[in-house]
Amino acid sequence: MKPLKVGLLGFGTVGGGVWRVLQRNQSEISRRAGREIIITHVAARAADGSLERAKAECVGAIVVDDAEKIVRDPSIDIVCELIGGTTIARTLTLDAIAHGKHVVTANKALLAHYGTEIFAAAHAKGVMVAFEAAVAGGIPIIKALREGLSANRIEWIAGIINGTSNFILSTMRETGASFEEVLKEAQRLGYAEADPTFDVEGIDAAHKITIMASIAFGIPMQFDKAYAEGITKLTRADIRYAEELGYRIKLLGITRRVNGTVADRGIELRVHPTLIPEKRLIANVEGAMNAVLVKGDAVGPTLYYGAGAGSEPTASAVIADLVDVTRMHTADPEHRVPHLAFKPDQLSAIPILPISEVKSGYYLRLRVLDQPGVLADITRILADHSISIEALLQKEATEGEDEVDIIVLTHDAIEKEVRGALKKIEALGSVKGEGIIIRIEGLH
Ligand code: HSE
Repeated sequence: MKPLKVGLLGFGTVGGGVWRVLQRNQSEISRRAGREIIITHVAARAADGSLERAKAECVGAIVVDDAEKIVRDPSIDIVCELIGGTTIARTLTLDAIAHGKHVVTANKALLAHYGTEIFAAAHAKGVMVAFEAAVAGGIPIIKALREGLSANRIEWIAGIINGTSNFILSTMRETGASFEEVLKEAQRLGYAEADPTFDVEGIDAAHKITIMASIAFGIPMQFDKAYAEGITKLTRADIRYAEELGYRIKLLGITRRVNGTVADRGIELRVHPTLIPEKRLIANVEGAMNAVLVKGDAVGPTLYYGAGAGSEPTASAVIADLVDVTRMHTADPEHRVPHLAFKPDQLSAIPILPISEVKSGYYLRLRVLDQPGVLADITRILADHSISIEALLQKEATEGEDEVDIIVLTHDAIEKEVRGALKKIEALGSVKGEGIIIRIEGLH
């Protein structure tokens, strides 16, 4: 059979990995795909030196600085978009589809924002858009959710899906250093970008959980409705107190189906620092690694672990998509695996719940005057809001100080009730400053 021809857009860390792994494992990959997959064209940029690198490395391929030429080239079957961002990448992806090409992309931001438009265009044109590398790098989580778990009603997903944040939190816990100190170290080691906003503010993880929610529940991509809270405000004190109480703090992406009445049924879609019982396997995922825990009604909990970023781990996912697309290239489009796991006319309109309606446990840290009646006042306010206490911890005052930290762990409660109670607690004369609030997930 004729080889399938690929145009690679972008020759950065991932693009270079795709080229290398495809060359190295060419014969195994062809035996799996049933035909050869060849990168015939590469587009790269002179400004960042990737054009020169591609010219030196990609022997046998045509290397250009104009990606548009590749998406319009009639000889190319698959466009592999590894540029990133949501502007040029969006135009090129839609152009490639319009020219009848399949697209393989690692671009989570693009799909989380414009997935609905891109999948509709691909469906109309009868081409595939594959995106395994967009979520959790080398972990085949898209394949698992879309195919391996297709017998199940997915109940929830909770994932450590941002390696940079996990590296920072792990290091803060191990060394007792502050967020700012560890961020600098992460930048020095090349884990964190010079502008780390997307990683440390939970936006990158929100892109990824948006994509997983869509496939798990058969809903459109709705990044605009995802709640994202990062790790920038976490302190050493909270990491230490959590540990004393038997928890680890992780930045989790969480999506959960809430089966209530029509009025309160919906999908939770959120990213935030979370206390997890330390005995859970996922609580022990350290450094820059990723892990995704998926709960299906039939299979129960399943855990997927691996490298969430990096040149060859991400290339592994990109090439798996190239193989998939190659296998399905000649299949009738109606009989391919749907982009979002469910047939496009079977997507559900179940709403995404606002964060105020989310139910979880809560860790509250309050700075209070060490005097009689303070705890009684706090617990009365919590009871008035129907919030039940699971554990209480009062730290000893340091010598010469009349203020202490009180930590309250609550049973599951509705977020708006907890926020309402916290406001009243903060207004007590005996409570100093603002309380710290971190959600808890038991992940049973
Ligand atoms: N910046 C991401 C992370 C990797 O730190 O996990 C790419 O999604």
